[in-house]
Amino acid sequence: MPQFNDAELTTAVIESFANTPNPRAKFLLQELVKSLHDYVRKTDLTFAEWEYAIDFLTRTGQKCSDIRQEFILLSDVMGVSMLVDAVNHRDRDGATETTVLGPFYVGEHKVTAHGTDISSDLDGERMFVQSRVTDLAGKPLAGVPVDVWHADDDGFYDSQKPSYATQGPSSRARFITDTEGRFFFRTILPCSYPIPTDGPVGEMIMQTKRHPMRPAHVHFLVNAPGYEPLITHVFIDGDKYLHSDVVFGVKDDLIAKIEEHSDGTMPDGKPASGTWHLMTYEFHMKPGEGAAPKPLGVKETEAA
Ligand code: BEZ
Ligand code: FE
Repeated sequence: MPQFNDAELTTAVIESFANTPNPRAKFLLQELVKSLHDYVRKTDLTFAEWEYAIDFLTRTGQKCSDIRQEFILLSDVMGVSMLVDAVNHRDRDGATETTVLGPFYVGEHKVTAHGTDISSDLDGERMFVQSRVTDLAGKPLAGVPVDVWHADDDGFYDSQKPSYATQGPSSRARFITDTEGRFFFRTILPCSYPIPTDGPVGEMIMQTKRHPMRPAHVHFLVNAPGYEPLITHVFIDGDKYLHSDVVFGVKDDLIAKIEEHSDGTMPDGKPASGTWHLMTYEFHMKPGEGAAPKPLGVKETEAA
């Protein structure tokens, strides 16, 4: 009967994965065992703490559904999502920086005409967004689908609201770049908002006296064939949470100065009424490949 002291136990568990056929899976599992065992040793984890952790993870899983991913939220607030992003995007070579996808990419992105007001049903300060997609040398990329989504003036995404099932998407659309790589649309100025706090992750954030806020931003997913899919946000300069984003997603290059205007026409020559804001941002794509992420709730067979 083998009997191990705590160091021998770690070696034995690592060894138990020795015959894993996939070398990458073997490496990932053995490294995970090392890190987990180190954590238990370093902290002298008690039974009560171990039980608490098991219960927390159980509740995290139970909170997940087709349209909610509490485990991704956990990864986000622990900085793991941004660390995975960082190790996979070490050399940007001048390409636009990336950040977290977030849980509100739900795949209801209808191709929409340039200039459309994607928030016509919402209150809020009006904003015109003008943008261009280029390669690293500044050559415009035409015909590229760009998904955009953002929260409303109360900090909610369309998919978080009961009206979503009947009224469909709002502040969410897909634009296809023109021959100059451009796209533009109307919307409202987004505001900062809390991540969902009605589950175990929110409970942890509140109990540890962190705040749950994300600085105001618009999400963009640019998916040009022959280039790495670009998952990013453009943040609104001046937001008070830029330095303490609960998911650590802010990068300097992703902060845009939003100009305030009161002229009577918007950049596409159409009339404006009152004060409006202008967001201008260019996306620079890195050559490469790779599939864009599947939206939540979409099964492998449906996504194909
Ligand atoms: C978001 O920006 O939509 C988001 C990202 C990470 C966690 C929660 C929300
Ligand atoms: Fe967001």
